[in-house]
Order: sequence, then structure tokens, then C-alpha cells
Amino acid sequence: MPTLHFKGKTFVQNHHLAVKYHQLVPNKELSLTDKVSLHDNLIIQGDNLKVLKALLPTYAGKINCICIDPPYNTGSDNGKWVYNDNVNSPMINEWLGKVVDKEDLTRHDKWLCMMMPRLKLLKELLHEEGVIFICIDDNEESNLKILMDELFTESNFMGKLPRRTKSGGGSAASDFAIEHDYVLVYAKNKEAVPKLFIPHDPDYAVRYKEEDKDGKYFWDTMERSSTATIPYKIIAPDGEVLTGKWFRAEKTFLADLERGEVKFLKKKDGTWSVQFKQRMGQGRKIRSLIENEFKSNQAEYEEFGIKRKFDYPKPVSLIKELIKASTDENAIILDSFAGSGTTAHAVLELNKYDKSNRKFILVEMEDYVDEITAERVRKVINGVPNSKNYETGTGGTFSYFELGETIEMESLLKGKNLPSFTEFARYLFYTATGEEFNEKSINEKTGFIGESKNYEAYLFYKADIEWLKKNALTLERCKSLPKFKNKQRLVFAPAKYVDDPTLLEFRIDFCQLPYEIYRIQK
Ligand SMILES: C[S@@+](CC[C@H](N)C(=O)[O-])C[C@H]1O[C@@H](n2cnc3c(N)ncnc32)[C@H](O)[C@@H]1O
Repeated sequence: MPTLHFKGKTFVQNHHLAVKYHQLVPNKELSLTDKVSLHDNLIIQGDNLKVLKALLPTYAGKINCICIDPPYNTGSDNGKWVYNDNVNSPMINEWLGKVVDKEDLTRHDKWLCMMMPRLKLLKELLHEEGVIFICIDDNEESNLKILMDELFTESNFMGKLPRRTKSGGGSAASDFAIEHDYVLVYAKNKEAVPKLFIPHDPDYAVRYKEEDKDGKYFWDTMERSSTATIPYKIIAPDGEVLTGKWFRAEKTFLADLERGEVKFLKKKDGTWSVQFKQRMGQGRKIRSLIENEFKSNQAEYEEFGIKRKFDYPKPVSLIKELIKASTDENAIILDSFAGSGTTAHAVLELNKYDKSNRKFILVEMEDYVDEITAERVRKVINGVPNSKNYETGTGGTFSYFELGETIEMESLLKGKNLPSFTEFARYLFYTATGEEFNEKSINEKTGFIGESKNYEAYLFYKADIEWLKKNALTLERCKSLPKFKNKQRLVFAPAKYVDDPTLLEFRIDFCQLPYEIYRIQK
């Protein structure tokens, strides 16, 4: 398989591993809930490289659908972006902080260096049955396709869907009046992905009134004024030979007859009506050519009356269609280039429409997260008085988080920037077990921070250097651990005042803070 070579690739190839874990700090004031939690809908302000890494402990392998719309790297004013990753390379350090414009001969290299580690983290976050949709245009589509083939493998490529972005105008365009961009689609594991169908609208489904063991259906007439089937004869129950234009081919009709799925009705005029079970399919397929109804629509965004302008929001209808086709009602949908928050808008409308419980996670780094991204989501949830389309809100909540300090083991020695109990527990539990951390199950009193396949994990810790200097795993603490449940106990503490036979007796693997953090592979 051909691979793409670009400047800086060797430096960014494993950069996602070097990115430090950061704390995610809740901001209650900007949230739209009383119970701020990482398990709620989320809006997170920060660079997505750090945020995606910080999401791993809670969401690795849990995201069902990713919709991203990264900068297209057009090199023009509207598309300006700056490469700013802190990669350990003098060449890359030269790139930092400079706007990437059309004259920049390394603009494609910079863009690919930015995307590669993010795509690697996104893949780690994606569920085995999950799908990623990436909006892109001709500036980077060909590069992105080859990079995705390398990272997700070519066999997981599901499609490249050209999308109409506008129609008309463009007479001043240099070669062609460009009216499209693309949505690139990959699976984490195509074999595992259920077929992508957009469920039928309730209005459409109404006619399928009957139901049997094979699902919903209605009795439909076989006779049609025009058909593509070869003419054949049907024998009615009274022996009459019927010669009509039949909707279904003879082979299908005979199979239906054999299964008892054909009905003969005598009409008022004495003639026969032949009927078959018209079954409701799983839904409709996404068309590979995404047409007019999914054109960009600035007016949709403007209806929210948000003072600050956002230039190219994606149409809500497009994102809804992609989510509908690829997720069920409890899915988690992630957008790490959130912009004006279209993905959250789509999820909330879908939840209202089909009474589902999908969840969104938005990540956006710019200073407009509160003013634009979160504000739009607030308005979608609460409704916009006197608006044409959004007067009634969808309802719902979200929790707003910001990137906090990095979790540095050395800071425990210095007592600076000590992480909170929950944040430290999140980091330790995931790093040690590689399994999902659930903050709802922790108990600061007993020190319990979670249960993995092989361990019950405990943390004795306070974000207070004086406390850390004085506290240790003692015999009393060993005795106070909850009843033994046939699982080895993993205990993190600043020190231990018990000997090895005691640890053995209480089935404890001791991990001294700050150093002995390791992924236990059993
Ligand atoms: C093309 S816009 C997305 C528009 C969005 N789909 C909508 O409908 O509003 C790309 C967004 O990604 C954000 N972005 C770019 N690099 C980022 C990064 N490293 N971390 C987080 N957000 C980033 C930009 O600030 C911008 O808002």
C-alpha cells in the first residue's frame, strides 16, 4: 500500500504518546446543569490534542460516532490556522505560531503533522463498531485519504461522499466554479459495523400497519400499470387464470405463495385482487452524492441571534443524517473541531425527534467557545423566543469543562499543582489498568477508585503536600479495606508502613506514589 511522506512525519508519528495527561476542570457557571459531570453532554474548551488525551481514561473505545470538520487549509484569510503543537523537534519548533498561508511551501506538511496525532487519538477513542466522518475539500482530501488509509487501513474505508455546498455564482472562479466538498468515511473495523441505514420517518412507517414474526408490513397489490417484470399467469383460488402486469417477478411471487405471503381478495366487481406483504426495510441508504438539501446554510446559524459571526457552519441536516445512519439511541458522538456547535445541535434535535438518549462531546479551542459554541447549544436546548424554527427548545443539559494543569508525577514531590482526588484517580486507574474510569463509583472515604477485570483499586491521597508527607498505608488502613471480593487489590499511597507478608495477607499490590505508576498487564 502506498504511504504518504511529509516533512515532520517522523517527529509526530508517536507524538500522541508523549502528550501529557491534563486535568479536565469543570466550570459550573458555564454549564447547563446542576450536576456537572464527565458523563453528561460535554463542551470542552482546549486544544483537542490535549483534550482527546484527557478523555481517554473515561472514553477510550466508547465513542460510537466521530464527526469532524477540521480546518480545510485553504491558505486564505477565512481558513487561516496556525500549527502549534509542542513536538520535540527543532524543525517543527520553527513552524510554531506562524499563520499558514498559500505561499507557505510546507503548508500540507504542517496540516498533516497537525492531523496525524489527533487521528491516532480519535481512533483510540472510537468504539469497535464506530464510524468516523471527516469533512474536507480538495485542498487536503487526497492527502487525508492516504493518511487515513495508513492509520485506519484501506479495508476500513467506507466511502467518500461529495457534498453540494452551494449552487450558482462563481463566474469569477479561476478554473471551475467549485460547488462541493467531501465527507470521508472510515470505520474502526468495517466488519463490525452494522449496516448504515437511515431509519424511516414515522410518517413513512405509518402505512406498515401489520406485523408478523419477520417485522412490519402492509398488504400491497401485485397489479401495476407498468412493470419491468416478464408477463406470467397467476391461478386464482377458483381456478381463474389471471393475466395482469405484476409488480414482482414470477420467482418471487411463487416463493411468497409458498410461504403463505400472498392473499387473493374478491373485489366488488367480481374480479380478483392479488396481494403480497410489502415489508418495511431497515431504512434508506445514504446517497453517495450529498445533494441540495444538505447545502451550507448560514441562515440556520443566524437564527440564534448570536452577535459574533461564525463563517462556515455545517448544515444541521447533514450531521443529523450521518448520525442517524451510524448510531443507535444511546450513542456517544464526538466532534473535536466543534466550531459553532452544529454537531451538538444535530444530536439534540435527533434526541427530541426520536426520543433517544444520544450524547455529544464537543471540543473547541478558540476563545469563542462560551460566546458561540456553548451559547448556540444553550439556545437549542432552551429555545429562542420568536424564532422561526427554534422557538421550542429540545431540552437537555451539558457540562462545560476546561483544560487544567498536566498531571505530573514530579509535582507530587514539590507539592505544586496537585491534582484533585478525582482527577488523580482517573489518571491512575486508567494508566494502571487500561480500563474505563467511572467517577461515579469512587469513594474518597474508603479510597476506592474503581474495579477492573483483575483489580479493585484504592487511592490514599489528598491534594495537600503536608498530608502526603504524613500519610501511608498502615495496618489499620489495610484492615479498613472493604470485604475481600476475590480480586487482588491495587493500592496507591505515598508510603507504606506494613511489611510484605501483610501485603500478601491482605492481597494488596502496593504502588508507591509518585513513581510506581505502570500499566499492569495481566
Ligand atoms: C471548520 S470549523 C468547524 C465548523 C463546525 N463544523 C460548524 O458547523 O460550526 C473548525 C473549527 O476547529 C477549531 N480548531 C482548529 N484546530 C483546533 C484544535 N487544535 N483544537 C480544538 N479546536 C480546533 C477551529 O477553531 C474551528 O472553530
